[in-house]
Amino acid sequence: MTATIMSREEYLRQDLDARLPNYEKDGRLYDIMVSQQFSRGFLETLFDIADRINAISHQPGGDDFLASLLRHKRAMLYFTQPSTRTFLSFLSACQIVGMRTGEVRDPSLSSEVKGESQEDALRTFSSYFDLIIMRDAKPGFCEYMAYLQQFASRNVPIFNGGSGKDQHPTQALLDVYTMHRSFQDRGGISGKTYGFVGDLLRGRAVRSVAYLLTRYSGIKMIFAAPVEFQISPELESYLVEKGIAVQKTDSLEEALPQVDSLYMTRVQDEYDVSGESSRVDYTRYHLTCENIRRMKSDAIILHPLPRRFEIDPAIDSDPRAMYWRQLRNGMYIRAALILYVFGMEDRLAEFGGM
Ligand code: NCD
Repeated sequence: MTATIMSREEYLRQDLDARLPNYEKDGRLYDIMVSQQFSRGFLETLFDIADRINAISHQPGGDDFLASLLRHKRAMLYFTQPSTRTFLSFLSACQIVGMRTGEVRDPSLSSEVKGESQEDALRTFSSYFDLIIMRDAKPGFCEYMAYLQQFASRNVPIFNGGSGKDQHPTQALLDVYTMHRSFQDRGGISGKTYGFVGDLLRGRAVRSVAYLLTRYSGIKMIFAAPVEFQISPELESYLVEKGIAVQKTDSLEEALPQVDSLYMTRVQDEYDVSGESSRVDYTRYHLTCENIRRMKSDAIILHPLPRRFEIDPAIDSDPRAMYWRQLRNGMYIRAALILYVFGMEDRLAEFGGM
């Protein structure tokens, strides 16, 4: 009997809760699509795996041990939107756990120019590879690919490395892992105030981090943005429903003294339809050596990068600046995610060098 396959529109019209079970296999996460998939328990497990990978990699013989774990697996990186960090971070993560990789970054060099659909291109990758990591401009497209795999003879996990303006779940994992590491001797992530600054409407990283922080208690979020780029009403009601104290403002100055963590973002002008970004005075959302004096002395400053002007490079040497550390954390958390999805995390205990 032939199964009825939903169109992309039909599939995405369903509630997220109806779609999420499609991304699990044998009671474990399998496809990594959106932040709402991650429970608090899962986050703690993943942070612990990442800590252990990091520690092992610093031991003699540790790198070789880690690289033996998934030597038999191959990953495909399919990035049709620009990327530096997410691509290199996933590539490094694959190398840490020993996976070999292939990549397509420019679809004009693949058979898509011959008129092949992206769906068929991805199905081709799943024939050769054991994991697909993808970034694409169309919101929900990688979710649809994960759904379609159920009907294919070979079903490999898919990781969302950024789905247009929609979500960037692995960026959120690395951001929250950075918060976890920064706050672990100060009572943890719960009970703190998190500021978000910049283009909060179109920034997928902000959305994914905000969803993820709802897994903790006693959280306050302050969203400082020009009114044109404030968070969507949907995100705001989701957060309020989850018990988050939400404050919206168009003043960075108002947010600065209150926050324990400040998440800076650039204007996402690649999504402009008619020059919206050029009509906004973004200079009011820049962090300078002057205005960071108003922040708490132990607050942390994050940025998913790339930055433009929103953080003065002179701030890089301030102990509160975490955005370069986020890169290393991202590599370890992605390596942890790969081990977890392949059910290999228990093998870390076999390392005898510690
Ligand atoms: C972010 C992204 O692509 O959404 N960058 C990243 O993945 N490190 C943020 C951005 O591009 O502004």
